[in-house]
Order: sequence, then structure tokens, then C-alpha cells
Amino acid sequence: MKHRKMPLSTDSISALSFGCMRFPTTPEGKIDEEQSFAMLHHAYDNGVNYYDTAWVYHNGESEPFLGRFLQQVDRSKILVATKLPCWLIKNREDMDTYLNKQLERLQTDYIDYYLLHALNRSTWKDMNDLGILDFLQEAKLQGRIRHIGFSFHDTYPIFHKIVMAFQWDFCQIMLNYLDTHNQAGMKGYNLAISRSMGVIAMEPLRGGKLVSPIPHEISSIWCNSKLNRSPQEHAIRWVWNLSGCTTLLSGMSTLEQVKENLALADICNAEELSETELKLYRKVRREYLKRIPIPCTECRYCLPCPAKIAIPTIFGVYNESVMFEEKPRHANEYKVFIPKESRADKCTKCGACIPKCPHHIDIPSQMEKIAAFFASE
Ligand SMILES: NC(=O)c1ccc[n+]([C@@H]2O[C@H](COP(=O)([O-])OP(=O)(O)OC[C@H]3O[C@@H](n4cnc5c(N)ncnc54)[C@H](OP(=O)(O)O)[C@@H]3O)[C@@H](O)[C@H]2O)c1
Repeated sequence: MKHRKMPLSTDSISALSFGCMRFPTTPEGKIDEEQSFAMLHHAYDNGVNYYDTAWVYHNGESEPFLGRFLQQVDRSKILVATKLPCWLIKNREDMDTYLNKQLERLQTDYIDYYLLHALNRSTWKDMNDLGILDFLQEAKLQGRIRHIGFSFHDTYPIFHKIVMAFQWDFCQIMLNYLDTHNQAGMKGYNLAISRSMGVIAMEPLRGGKLVSPIPHEISSIWCNSKLNRSPQEHAIRWVWNLSGCTTLLSGMSTLEQVKENLALADICNAEELSETELKLYRKVRREYLKRIPIPCTECRYCLPCPAKIAIPTIFGVYNESVMFEEKPRHANEYKVFIPKESRADKCTKCGACIPKCPHHIDIPSQMEKIAAFFASE
């Protein structure tokens, strides 16, 4: 297994790391422990040393499960990453309570990489107001955590603000060939590197959406290139090509995927894609972006909606459903992530959003269309 160095640290991290959010599950929705232990052990035996979990993954089961795995291997050879669930923190005492419970769940005295989970403009403000940076520095001094970082889901200006607020050890950002201008994007990646931060690349396959199904126009571009690589290989190669990416965090859900990604880790290196290959990625990206039906950039200028409709989130899920030609998966995301009272069918067509949209989208008509689209699933 190849390793990459965490900047300003003595740690070397395996090029492939394990995301503990997508373990196979039983019909009851619990982690399938037999299969998942086999996957973790196979990864460990083949040199994967970084394991990323969080308080909420698998309904709270992921941390205790990883804790049991840590009892079966040499803890000193493993780098454990977990995250403070910022949205549950109401005061400074909560920060201590959650960290202590996480140490207990993971059956360890220290966490190697501790992240503020899924920062965005509102959670960052709340955490900052509650004195999170003092708490993190104190926990580091006490040896309860070794590196301080955050994962992120918002736009670049917010990422910039967070990065500049502190000398973070690392960040975890969505990094794949499609999202170069989305969330932190490549601007965020470059900023993090300029601040000597480690960059943990999450969602390298866009949660699997870059693997299947592949729209016809996209698969023909890959096929015509004669590169003879699977969609997952194309996607993973692009991430590893970035020399500032400290590790590629993969959410594997079968033993075969662990084996395949380990094999790819052996053959992929930084800075090895040719200009012709990079051009091909840009072509595929343009083709994906052409498929976006509504030009919403999720700037949120349309908010607040008097009827409390989750306009940008609804557009985001609908756009991806059309872009990736995957209605059932997105219909499920629509139901899981958008509360009933904020869905498209609750739009009152008051029109308050129309003059606020910089892209002049006729939001009420689109809401009607989207309500009908998801109603049929
Ligand atoms: N902190 C945060 O805010 C945050 C957010 C997202 C993720 N994460 C972390 O980052 C990790 C990585 O993100 P992710 O899980 O979205 O990663 P990802 O690699 O983009 O997506 C994982 C999915 O890709 C598919 N896959 C993986 N390897 C494959 C292979 N060799 N061939 C075919 N399909 C393959 C699987 O989909 P199928 O199951 O459909 O086969 C798998 O469930 C997560 O597991 C989690 O630990 C953190």
C-alpha cells in the first residue's frame, strides 16, 4: 500500500482509506457484522490504516462496531477518524459529553483525526459562538484527540471563512471529477493546500452515482477513448492524481469493492494523468452538466420562502435525478431529506421567490413539475 504524508504531522496515511458509512446491512437494517468485519480485516491486512466513522453513521452503530474491530487488531497501527455531530451541540458541556461517549464507543483513549461534522454556514456560526476552537485545542492538549479538522457541505465562500479562522490540521471535502466547482471544489482544495492542511477526499465516486447507471452520452465518451477503464477506475484515478489529496476515503459496501479499490491503489499515482486524459474528464463533466434541467446553483437567494418550501434542496435532488438518470434513488433522497411540509407540492405559488432568483427561474411552475415527477415514485 502506498502512503501519503499528512502535512505538519508525522503520520503517513494509506492512499486508500475506509469510510464506515456504507457497510452492508441485514434485512433489518443493522450492520451485517460478518461481512463488514471481513471487509475491514481485508483492508487492514492489505495496509489500509485510516478508518473514518461518525456519531450518526448506521444510526449510531458504526462507532461501536469500529470500536469492536479496534479490539481485534493492533490499535497503534490504525488512524481513527470520527466527528462531533455539531447539530446536536447546545453548549460547551455537550462537546465534552459527546467526545467522551465517542471514546467509550470506540473503546480507545484517543482519536487520531477529530472532525466537526458537515460544517455549513449555520453550524459553523453556532459552533464558533459556543467556543468550539477552545474546546478542540484543549482536547488536543489533553491527548484525547491528535489532529483537528472538519468536514464540509456548503459553498466556497463559507469554506474560505472557516479555513481562515484557524490553523486546522486537515479538512474532509467532496472531491471528484464532476464537482470541481461545487461545494469547496478545486478552489477549496487549493486553499487548503496553501494552508498546509491535509485534504481527505470524500465521495470520490459521488456516493456511487459516477459508477452506475451511466447515461449513454457519458459511456460513449469513455468507450471512444479506448482507455479500457471502468467508470470507478476513471473516477478514482482522477482523485489520486491530485498530489495534495492526502487520502481517498472510499465508502465500500462489498468485499469485492474493497479488493477492487485496493488493486487500484496499487496502480494509481499522483500527477500521472496526461493532458489528453484530463481533457477527457473535462468533456465528461461538461456532458453531465449539460444534463442539468434547472439552472439552480443553490445560492439560496430565494429563501426564506413564506411557505417554508426547501427550494434549493428540491432543485438539487431533482437535477441530480435527471442528470444521473436515477429516479428511484433520488425519490428516496427526496423523501428522506425533505420534510413533508417543505416539499414541492406544498408550494402556494405566491411568487415571492421569483424576483429574488438571479437565474430568473420560474420557481412555482418548476415546483409543480417536480411535485408531479416525484409523486409517481
Ligand atoms: N463528513 C461528511 O460530511 C461525509 C459525507 C459523506 C461521506 N463521508 C465519509 O466519506 C466516505 C466516502 O464517501 P462515500 O461513501 O460517499 O464514497 P464514494 O466512494 O463516493 O461512494 C461509495 C459508494 O460507491 C460505490 N463503490 C465503491 N467502490 C466501488 C467499486 N470498486 N465499484 C463499484 N462501486 C463502488 C458503492 O456504491 P453501491 O453501494 O451502490 O455499490 C459505495 O457505497 C463515507 O463512507 C464517509 O465515511 C463523510
